[in-house]
Amino acid sequence: MADLDARDVPVDPTSQERLSASRLEYRVVDLSDPAQLRGFARADARGFLDKEPDDETIRVMGEMMSGRRNIGVYAPGADLPVATVDSWVTPMTVPGDAGAHLDMWAISIVTVAATHRRRGIARNLLEGELRAAASAGVPIAGLTATEATIYGRYGFGPAIPVSRVRVDARRAGGVTLPAADGATTVEYLEPEALLAALGEVHERARLDRPGDIPGWPLRWRRMAGLVPGDERSRAVRGVRAVDADGGTRGVLAYTLDELPDEFGADFAIRHLDAETPEALRALWAFAVNHDLIRTVHADLRPIDDPLPWLVANQRAVQTTVHDHGWLRILDVPAVLGARSYRAPLDLVLRVSDPLGLAEGSWRLRVGQDGKGVIDVTTDAPDVELGVDALSSLYLGGVSAPTLRAAGRISASAETAAAIQNAFGTAAAPALTIWY
Ligand SMILES: CC(C)(COP(=O)(O)OP(=O)(O)OC[C@H]1O[C@@H](n2cnc3c(N)ncnc32)[C@H](O)[C@@H]1OP(=O)(O)O)[C@@H](O)C(=O)NCCC(=O)NCCS
Repeated sequence: MADLDARDVPVDPTSQERLSASRLEYRVVDLSDPAQLRGFARADARGFLDKEPDDETIRVMGEMMSGRRNIGVYAPGADLPVATVDSWVTPMTVPGDAGAHLDMWAISIVTVAATHRRRGIARNLLEGELRAAASAGVPIAGLTATEATIYGRYGFGPAIPVSRVRVDARRAGGVTLPAADGATTVEYLEPEALLAALGEVHERARLDRPGDIPGWPLRWRRMAGLVPGDERSRAVRGVRAVDADGGTRGVLAYTLDELPDEFGADFAIRHLDAETPEALRALWAFAVNHDLIRTVHADLRPIDDPLPWLVANQRAVQTTVHDHGWLRILDVPAVLGARSYRAPLDLVLRVSDPLGLAEGSWRLRVGQDGKGVIDVTTDAPDVELGVDALSSLYLGGVSAPTLRAAGRISASAETAAAIQNAFGTAAAPALTIWY
């Protein structure tokens, strides 16, 4: 886990001053005060179009938020904030040896009350988070977004695309497993065992998946159907994939959503995580080969998920690729030095940044060992790009030739190809959770 606790980082004085000019108080929320906790939880629910949280929901939200740095924007004398944001420092896996990671400033619960929108409050929240993270020495920020149009202006780039998949189970022709997979079995789990398996498998599997981050207890409880007030909770079922030694190597939490007017259901995957290809295949086979199923749905799958190659009929698998993990580099040398590369490289990058945090020119040299050495330089650049584009390229999930073709980076075709060879990864980056 990260050494730095975001709760120790003071609020950003610039955003504080700017918002106070509009008679709004920007401050850290004290969740030990029941009135402040209630107001923060209610503002969160309102911002994300949820119903009013009951006492139990507020208590559970308080548990999760207590490990985070929660900021509210308040009109004078109010307990219910007009805007919210929270953040924590978390490891994010980067390309390299298993467990290679970078500390990331994760940002969540960005809401502004409908009565206070479009007057610059979100800008102050986001810029405040980025300045605070940079001042604390955190080299990168990340988030997942409700809309793809909000965060580019602050220097975030979509970096971890994922697939939403829909399998027509009746046309798919089933998943046929290789004979060698015979030692892997699938077993049902009781809810508490499902909860434990979700956390354990994710904690191991994420270490091999650039872009992924740890989950947290409330997330796994929600996936396992153990959060009070979740109407679908009693519909949640879970299974695990077990290897020849009895070890849990994969886990699947799902619901079966009954179809009207026929005896059948849609199989909705809440979370699917696997450490080995055998476990992943076994869990896909469990879902797609399940009796009485019309469709199988899942989201947040890596874009190179083998599913289309597992079924007899690839046309039964529809995949929609969409943006999911957004990154925002704050310290160029720190992030470029933290990952490994797949090919040697020697080039000068000139990075522009609307907030000035990551602005500059650096030479990146990658040797045969795949390690990068980064130096400040005044040499002419080989590539000029915004911090958002560099953030998109960082994990190899977005192609440099594609960004060049889109006019998002300025470089020769040869330079873009060289960046792609070095930054590309064997497996697509992945982020298997929302935050
Ligand atoms: C998205 C949201 C936080 C924006 O808050 P806001 O205070 O109205 O935003 P600001 O007034 O600071 O706007 C800053 C910039 O973002 C733009 N913007 C704001 N909301 C936007 C949206 N939904 N889509 C596209 N652009 C948006 C503004 O036009 C402005 O652009 P500019 O600086 O280039 O002129 C707010 O609408 C909200 O709470 N939405 C519901 C919850 C949600 O979706 N949160 C995001 C979670 S990932």
